Order: sequence, then structure tokens, then C-alpha cells
Amino acid sequence: MVKIMKVEIRKTELAHAVAIRDIIDHEAVLREISGYPHPVPLEQIQKEINNGLRNWKTGESYGFTVFVDGKIAGTVVLEEPNKTKTIYEVGGFIGHKYWNSGIATEALKQIIDFGFKKGIHQIQADHDKTNPGSGKVMEKAGMKHYKTKKDVKRPFGLVNVHFYKVRPK
Ligand SMILES: CC(C)(COP(=O)(O)OP(=O)(O)OC[C@H]1O[C@@H](n2cnc3c(N)ncnc32)[C@H](O)[C@@H]1OP(=O)(O)O)[C@@H](O)C(=O)NCCC(=O)NCCS
Repeated sequence: MVKIMKVEIRKTELAHAVAIRDIIDHEAVLREISGYPHPVPLEQIQKEINNGLRNWKTGESYGFTVFVDGKIAGTVVLEEPNKTKTIYEVGGFIGHKYWNSGIATEALKQIIDFGFKKGIHQIQADHDKTNPGSGKVMEKAGMKHYKTKKDVKRPFGLVNVHFYKVRPK
């Protein structure tokens, strides 16, 4: 029997902090997102959520928590890299136990839809070879590969970085 899950994105609130911390604090997730020690301090997540709530007001970023059947399963965020209010970058993560169930793809589609309704002209993202699943998610959500930068320096060596973007139809 196919299990159908309800995936929703909701504005990230402080009340989501403990669940988000617990999701990040997993070896497989920590490997792909930088800037967190293990164990991940709750105060760091609370600070980030408070910054995110301020950024919602200015339009600098829009942070969402991903809910699956009412339970917190990850986050997805649109961030403005160059203060143009037209081009945003998208990123996020999903709890390890939920991987490969189509949740990131659904959450990405929803945040793209939100962004275009806000008048954003282009949403973009990138990934390197350590994370091919991430590129697959971007393609499944309708983003198109448009360039590859070769030999980009990363803490673990030189990698090719693949760039994707999507614009409203
Ligand atoms: C990347 C991530 C968000 C994907 O979340 P998810 O909910 O598992 O994504 P989905 O289930 O929607 O899709 C994953 C797709 O990648 C594919 N995939 C997974 N691992 C893969 C790999 N090593 N090589 C190729 N494809 C892979 C899956 O098969 C699936 O495609 P399919 O539906 O065609 O089978 C999740 O793994 C994650 O949070 N990783 C840690 C943080 C991170 O990498 N964030 C992105 C930074 S750019």
C-alpha cells in the first residue's frame, strides 16, 4: 500500500527550535550543512530563528518549517544574496529518517510557489558532488541546471559545483 503523507511548509517559529535542533544533530545531516558543532546548541538554533523572524519583516529571508502529517520534518528557506529583492537562493534540510520519501521535493515546490507569489523573479541553488540527491530534488521541483563551476575550493578539497535556477512561467 502506498502511504500518502501531507507535506506543509509553515513560517518558522521559536516553538519549532527543539525539533529543528534534533533534526540537525544527526551525523548525515551535519555532514552536508556547515556551521554547527555536535551536539548542536539549542541557543544557536533559537538565535537563528529570531534572526529569521526579523528577516521576514525586511524580506531578507523567508524561513519555513516543513511539517509531515503535522510533525516537524525539516526546514526550507529563501535567502536574498544581493539585496535586489528579485533573486533568492533556496536551501534547507530534511530529517534523516524521512529521506527519499519525496518530502524535500514537495517542500521545494511549495516555497518556489510562495516566492513567485511574492514577486521574486528567480530562485536558485547549487550543490556539489558530495550531495547528488540535492540536485535531483531541484530537478524534480522544476529547477534547471544552468552552469557548473569546476574546481571550487572546499574544506575537503576541490569540487565541481552545479548551479540550478527557476523563473516564473
Ligand atoms: C538533500 C535532502 C534535502 C533531500 O531530501 P529528501 O526529502 O530525501 O528528498 P526527496 O525524497 O524529495 O528526493 C531525493 C531524491 O534524490 C535521490 N537521491 C538520494 N541520494 C542520492 C544519491 N546519492 N545519488 C543520486 N540520487 C540520490 C533520491 O533517489 C530521490 O530521487 P527519486 O525520487 O527520483 O528517487 C536531504 O537528503 C537532506 O536534508 N540532506 C542534508 C542537508 C542538505 O544536503 N541540504 C541541501 C543542501 S543544497
